Amino acid sequence: MSVERIPIGSDHAGYELKEKLKVALSGLGFDVEDVGTHSAASTDYADYAHPVAREVETGQARRGVLICGTGLGMSYAANRHPHVRAAVVWSREVAALSRQHNDANVLVLPARFVSDEEGVAILKTWLETPFEGGRHERRIEKIEREEEQ
Ligand code: RB5
Repeated sequence: MSVERIPIGSDHAGYELKEKLKVALSGLGFDVEDVGTHSAASTDYADYAHPVAREVETGQARRGVLICGTGLGMSYAANRHPHVRAAVVWSREVAALSRQHNDANVLVLPARFVSDEEGVAILKTWLETPFEGGRHERRIEKIEREEEQ
């Protein structure tokens, strides 16, 4: 079985946590693709959200990870992409629910509101929690069929 490649990106506010998450992902055996940013210098979150979301949209990657200060800017940009469900997650419980109920395929972390340790724990929970399917399948399908409502 081939190693799963996970694209990851952050702005300056998420840079330090991104570096910690990269170590965790490598330790778990994933192939990490860092789309930037590569320093703590001020930058714009959308420049990193779109490349990660595009990979998930096109199926080049199954899952992706984004980090900014609140998680909000990254989620706004990523969720403009069809088939992308980017979830801002601030606890392990929300991480599990974002997978079980929402089949989130992009994890967005708010670096200014979680510690590095919490961020790594959230990432691990998110990666290992499966989608429950069932009634949640129907609800997810409706997200992309808004014009029919
Ligand atoms: C950067 O200061 C901050 O605005 C950004 O990281 C993010 O929180 C935006 O949503």
